[in-house]
Amino acid sequence: MKIETLRASNLRCFEELQFAPGSRINWLVGPNGAGKTTILEAAHILSRGRSFRPGGRVSPMRRGTHEYWIYAETAHDDGRRRRLGLSRTEEQWAARLDGAALPSLGPLFAACPVVFFGPESQGLVAGPAEERRSFLDWSVFHVEHESLDAWRSWRRALRQRNALLRGHGPGVEFEVWEHDLARLAGEIHAMRSRCLASLGPYLVEEAGSLVPELGEARIEYRPGWDEHVGLERQLAELRDRDRERGFTQRGAHRADWWMHFPGVARREHLSRGQAKAIALVCVLAQTRWLKDRVGEYPLLCLDDLGSELDSAHGSKVVAWLHAEPLQAWLTSSTDPDPRHLEGESRVFHVEHARMVEV
Ligand SMILES: Nc1ncnc2c1ncn2[C@@H]1O[C@H](COP(=O)(O)OP(=O)(O)O)[C@@H](O)[C@H]1O
Ligand SMILES: [Mg+2]
Repeated sequence: MKIETLRASNLRCFEELQFAPGSRINWLVGPNGAGKTTILEAAHILSRGRSFRPGGRVSPMRRGTHEYWIYAETAHDDGRRRRLGLSRTEEQWAARLDGAALPSLGPLFAACPVVFFGPESQGLVAGPAEERRSFLDWSVFHVEHESLDAWRSWRRALRQRNALLRGHGPGVEFEVWEHDLARLAGEIHAMRSRCLASLGPYLVEEAGSLVPELGEARIEYRPGWDEHVGLERQLAELRDRDRERGFTQRGAHRADWWMHFPGVARREHLSRGQAKAIALVCVLAQTRWLKDRVGEYPLLCLDDLGSELDSAHGSKVVAWLHAEPLQAWLTSSTDPDPRHLEGESRVFHVEHARMVEV
């Protein structure tokens, strides 16, 4: 997917945003606070309904306004063009795809794959399991759209069990929800396992080229409960302890996966630079994997790459971008190295929420 036109209104510093990127590598250059990250954020919101910024659920709506919208025209490898729109007020959202109103956001997200890397992405390595799960589940979603339904049902059943934990429901009520939870967790686990089995080799390969100094990566995945015991039995056994804590301690919401490197005993031993490079490995692997699995590259957004990586790793990434015929949006507070501008690169200056192509 390539975005041909992006427009937005009342998004952070932008009263109006208009961006017509080139089909390959687009550099957004400008001082801090100019609005560069916000442009990437607009694409990200179309792709997932929320921002990547810390506190991603805080509205990016321009101060003093009551509604923002984002609109994009996309071009696809099969020759199709699509029109995507999302608007939000404090209370509600509305989405459109090719002119038709959508009853749910799933089809919008499916039509708009955007992969993002920025300062927050090291959370993928150093942060809580939730960040790695969300990376994995987003990948799952793009190959198995029905995962959204499984997730919705899972969350509903989990809420029910958690409510029972806080009340004093009879055991039989627990049994009903625990049975459902075990079945849904099994479905989610199967999708995640399939996904990681096919994504894994891409992760290992990208790690081999971006961080060869760490040795060959090995992927580990834990479903969130003890598979030998089975989730249904574990939930029944843990009821009293879960009651004390007030929440369900086992299940699909506790899964985690990780890349082990022979040279790294513990994840906490990684330097910040290494953690960032590994997060970038995940993003590049996901990008190539999506191309092979879905038939099309996602839009790749790299925020502030230069300050995230040392120059040797940064140059490798730019070479990678030149070799893969995808659309990329990169931000930088300094002019890009002229050697990085070979091929089809375009440069836009962003200043005070205005964009000018150089
Ligand atoms: N809700 C908001 N309303 C108005 N302005 C905002 C809002 N949120 C952020 N801003 C401003 O938007 C600007 C753009 O930030 P950002 O896109 O992060 O810039 P850059 O990436 O170029 O450093 C900042 O100056 C920030 O103060
Ligand atoms: Mg920024």
